[in-house]
Amino acid sequence: ECNNGHMLRMVMFGKPGAGKGTLSSRLVKKYDILTISTGDLLRQHIAEGTQVGRQAGEIVAQGGLVPDDLMLKVVTSKLDALHDRHWILDGFPRTLGQGKLLDTHLESQNIPLTLIVNLDIPDKVILGRISDRWVHLPSGRVYNMSYNRPKVDGLDDETGEPLIKRPDDHPEIFSRRLKQFYASTSPLFSYYASNPKAARLVTLQGESSDEIWPKLEAAVLSSSPGLRERLPHKR
Ligand code: AP5
Repeated sequence: ECNNGHMLRMVMFGKPGAGKGTLSSRLVKKYDILTISTGDLLRQHIAEGTQVGRQAGEIVAQGGLVPDDLMLKVVTSKLDALHDRHWILDGFPRTLGQGKLLDTHLESQNIPLTLIVNLDIPDKVILGRISDRWVHLPSGRVYNMSYNRPKVDGLDDETGEPLIKRPDDHPEIFSRRLKQFYASTSPLFSYYASNPKAARLVTLQGESSDEIWPKLEAAVLSSSPGLRERLPHKR
């Protein structure tokens, strides 16, 4: 496949709890884009007890990182079906090794990344949000009791199914995930920032979505001006 330069091939980069999932799903709801969240995929594998799920379960529960080669398999098995679609990766890559593996994989298909969005949110803000987070496991939809409440407490807006607390949002595990970010994920940021061939890198700062959303939308549209909004009846 030849990328004409306007297809969106975007990485959503940021600390745990920065809002990657929330903002990706907002983009996907408005525009004709697909998103792949490795966190959601792993949680589904774990819930279904697949082979990947059995390998990843304990690591995710402890707030560690799943090995790069396993993650590449999980991602590419989804990604390779999305040739002619606009897409966002949420939660991958998150190590330097994964970043290089992804570049190699995409180069072999001639579809380089076009945009890297770095969500830069203070730790203090994130820690406050996590205690209020609830998720719908099958879809990955995220709610927050102070910021975007579900219509009915404890239930998913679209399916009415129950929401859960993620076990790895327990404060002790969460602080391990945050440390893991500084140790393993921030080197990837330097790799993208210093590589002249890499995709456009945009850092977005802010504590509220009102600050971040318009900047994110502008960055995405300037990278892929041909993006179409979804038809209204699909919401
Ligand atoms: P994953 O699910 O990817 O977790 P994460 O990166 O730690 O990110 P989160 O899902 O916690 O946060 P988010 O940035 O999406 O924030 P959200 O939108 O929910 O990964 C889980 C685990 O899987 C990892 O720990 C690891 O073990 C494993 N794993 C996954 N990918 C891997 C990989 N590539 N390699 C190795 N291992 C991997 O927002 C957070 C909260 O804030 C929500 O409550 C939300 O409602 C609220 N909020 C969001 N935006 C705002 C706002 N603007 N204002 C107020 N509140 C807001």
